[in-house]
Amino acid sequence: MGEVDPAFIQDAEDRPKLSIIKAEDIPLIDLSPLNAPDSISDPKAIEGVVREIDNACKNWGFFQVINHGVPLDKREKIEIVARKCFAQSLEEKRKIRRDEKCAVGYYDTEHTKNVRDWKEVFDFLVEEPTLVPTSNEPGDKEETEWFNQWPENPPEFREVFEEYSQEVEKLALKLMGLIALSLGLPEDRFKSYFKDQTSVIRLNHYPPCPSPQLALGVGRHKDSGALTVLAQDEVGGLEVKRKTDGDWIRVKPTPNAYIINVGDIIQVWSNDKYESVEHRVMVNSEKARFSVPFFLNPAHYTQVKPLEELTSKQNPAKYTPFSWGKYLTRRMLSNFKKLKAENIQIHNFRVSE
Ligand code: OGA
Ligand code: NI
Repeated sequence: MGEVDPAFIQDAEDRPKLSIIKAEDIPLIDLSPLNAPDSISDPKAIEGVVREIDNACKNWGFFQVINHGVPLDKREKIEIVARKCFAQSLEEKRKIRRDEKCAVGYYDTEHTKNVRDWKEVFDFLVEEPTLVPTSNEPGDKEETEWFNQWPENPPEFREVFEEYSQEVEKLALKLMGLIALSLGLPEDRFKSYFKDQTSVIRLNHYPPCPSPQLALGVGRHKDSGALTVLAQDEVGGLEVKRKTDGDWIRVKPTPNAYIINVGDIIQVWSNDKYESVEHRVMVNSEKARFSVPFFLNPAHYTQVKPLEELTSKQNPAKYTPFSWGKYLTRRMLSNFKKLKAENIQIHNFRVSE
């Protein structure tokens, strides 16, 4: 067995169990009723799907979708260009390295909860430019534009990325419509928040690891945005913390399915009806794994708070409002240095009971 740098070694209680007994899987939802003509204008046709989404969001915070409408060739192409990008020399990849000035690009030293992740990533903005606050100071209203750093190779990268991104964005927004319905809200309730979205697509590469029992591809965490739409390859490694007993459940790769999870913002909007659930990625000593999450994020000027329709005297708001853009820029800081304390989380905005 090889050695791993101590920066990668998880605390004993966070280390993965190598023998996984997987009796259960997260819910699998067939979205084909949505493809019928007039499905959205005929609520009866999609009633069953909406109920399944409601159950999955309440009980798991995670589900997989099939017959989702994203063309398979678009997904295959992004997976091919992602592999080509990672196969380049470190020197080449570092030409588009992300730093304090440009928050997106290549990165191979990400930390989750201050332990280093066994992975390398390329991040790309879905909207170009993406508007963000210049600083995370609460009073500062100045805005900055973020741009992507495109790799020179493969030359078709940008076109493949943009075509894929459009399709997954459509799916993400369709799912937000279904989630609105499942919360008893109009289908377009969330639409305006994403007009100036700060969404990101990440390409993840988890190389084989000599000590998979000590390190993690991504340490346990919750996704901080609204919704994540993840494509994973056939290797597997994603684990979800089951709400009923806290066991880590492996998500079995289903060909051409997407894994969907509720992020922190939906947890706040729904006033905790739908919780953002912890997950992590295991690595293995034999096979490299690739995954492509789409993190659907609202406009930076969004004030995130429980929706008025979902709060009442009996169910008062559990969070005080916070600015998504300020939160995002503050969280990004932890990407550049190992923070002493834990990074900012939504529980910092929880109203004390
Ligand atoms: C993430 C994440 C899971 C995976 O990047 O936030 O949870 O399977 N990825 O790569
Ligand atoms: Ni995640």
